[in-house]
Amino acid sequence: MCGIIAYTGSKPASPILIEGLKVLEYRGYDSAGLYVPGAGVHKAVGPVQALADAIPGLLPGTAGMGHTRWATHGNPSLENAHPHTDQNGTIFLVHNGIIENYMELREKLVEQGHTFTSETDTEVLAHLIGVEYEATHDMPASVVAALQSVRGTYGLAVMAEDTPDTIVAVRLGSPIAIGVKEQEFFVASDAAPMLRHTNSIIYLEDGEYAVVTPQGYTVYSFSHRQQEREPEIVDMQVEDADKNGHPHYMLKEILEVPSVLENGTRGRILMKEGNAKLGGLVDREDVLRDVERLIIVGCGSAYYAGMVGKLLVEDIVGIPAHVELASEFRHRSMLADENTAVLAISQSGETADTLAAIREAKRRGLTTVGIVNVVGSSIARETDVGIYNHAGPEMSVASTKGFLSQLELLVLFALYMGRMRSLTQAQGAELAMELLRLPEKVRMILSERHKLKLLAEEYLGYDDFLFIGRAYNLPTAFEGALKLKEVSYVHAEGYGAGEMKHGPIAMIDDIFPTVGIMPLDSTYSKMRSSIEEIRARDGKVIIVTTDGNTGVERLADDVVYIPETKECLTPILANVPLQLFAYYMGVLRGVNVDRPRNLAKSVTVE
Ligand code: AGP
Repeated sequence: MCGIIAYTGSKPASPILIEGLKVLEYRGYDSAGLYVPGAGVHKAVGPVQALADAIPGLLPGTAGMGHTRWATHGNPSLENAHPHTDQNGTIFLVHNGIIENYMELREKLVEQGHTFTSETDTEVLAHLIGVEYEATHDMPASVVAALQSVRGTYGLAVMAEDTPDTIVAVRLGSPIAIGVKEQEFFVASDAAPMLRHTNSIIYLEDGEYAVVTPQGYTVYSFSHRQQEREPEIVDMQVEDADKNGHPHYMLKEILEVPSVLENGTRGRILMKEGNAKLGGLVDREDVLRDVERLIIVGCGSAYYAGMVGKLLVEDIVGIPAHVELASEFRHRSMLADENTAVLAISQSGETADTLAAIREAKRRGLTTVGIVNVVGSSIARETDVGIYNHAGPEMSVASTKGFLSQLELLVLFALYMGRMRSLTQAQGAELAMELLRLPEKVRMILSERHKLKLLAEEYLGYDDFLFIGRAYNLPTAFEGALKLKEVSYVHAEGYGAGEMKHGPIAMIDDIFPTVGIMPLDSTYSKMRSSIEEIRARDGKVIIVTTDGNTGVERLADDVVYIPETKECLTPILANVPLQLFAYYMGVLRGVNVDRPRNLAKSVTVE
């Protein structure tokens, strides 16, 4: 996905835009650009700092817009970087989303004599708006008129050279928010880049546009009907979007996990009733009571969280649960009836495949539930009901606190659904009590994070890893492998331990280490057998196990200990050292762990 920031007020715009783009870099970072009426367009390939360096001093102008790009159409280049302009160089715009019919629109414009300087779908939008604007000189009307012929998704900020302090913001399928302050206003893809200036935010709905000037803002529907929209106070602080002295967002966010887990349960545990209080589900409580089957959808780490969710729901709620890759879900002949609900897990709330899965589920009349971190995001808005993580902005591309918060909320969801069925008050209270102990247990792991740094140093030279687990920690194996891959570029595979002898054990030798996730739980003895089979073939082994289980040391080259907890909660603890291991390995290998190559924080393309 890409990042958008725009400003109109009384201060010089360019420093505000650069500062906002740096906060938005987690959304996309292969190129960046900005436009200030009267001072033109400036672009750079690479990080936002390259753009800052390319700007000759303080640009005149108290309005403007900026963009960070994650390339979808056209490679990262100056020509493809946003902002884009129309044939006359009057209209300028930045875009987040995908224009599906851009080629046919472009061909028609070329037939009309238009020339294009980029390979992007966005530039076609600028030309379409420019044609309308040349005829009417009415910017908002031109924007809406041009969009009538467009199929796709867009979050837009549009400006015109001859109306220098006016921004038209548009939302259809890609989030756009307006930041409100005294005599100055902001437009951005999400709240994070505006927090330094204001917490007073308006999230446009799909099919709305806003006209923003230093005097104020007005929101309209695409049929130009004015919409009354009051700002909401967003409970995020500016330091949430800063590194706060940490070398990387990823480490900061791992260190935030204890407080994130505390925030996730705050006000949501009813200990006397042995239940969870999830206000976001109340509107569908009766429907959820009758749900007989749950389908969980997500991508990447969210999918692995869903794998844990499946086990939690089947063990605690007692109904069948299926977890599906969101990108596969829509291709399934979904055998579902009105007693099937779909649970979407998404940190960003903008992942296109997960959003498409939700839309497909709704099209089939199924109840949809979201576990989402970003307030006001598309998935949060489009699911019937949901639970917010309240984990704060996750700026690092690799999901760490977001993933662990998803696991915690899945426990709360299972508790809530279980207590509607056969889970007793005592069982519920016991689970809730242990959940409340996890933040302190994570702090214990974090207090020994230097051990994971040493472990990464010890294994720096290895280029392939196997992560194995069973039951609740099979997803941990997959997630641990993903973290290592995405922040260190080291090849790693997650595998079911029971599957080793059906093929993967052929790879084992002394340069192919295995990470075995084996807390003292119901699968421990089977895990031991798998590890022994690996050791018998000279495989190096790192074991993650429960504090005090020192007997395992003869089995392993290295042991990482985690505090004891209930089996169904072990993934929340076991993933912490694996996140740290991946982090230190990435740093040691010189990777920008917050901005790994080729990745973006949320994949808003299918
Ligand atoms: C996680 O480390 C990855 N960056 C990625 O797999 C992510 O979990 C996936 O893209 C889903 O994102 P979402 O939770 O925002 O939907």
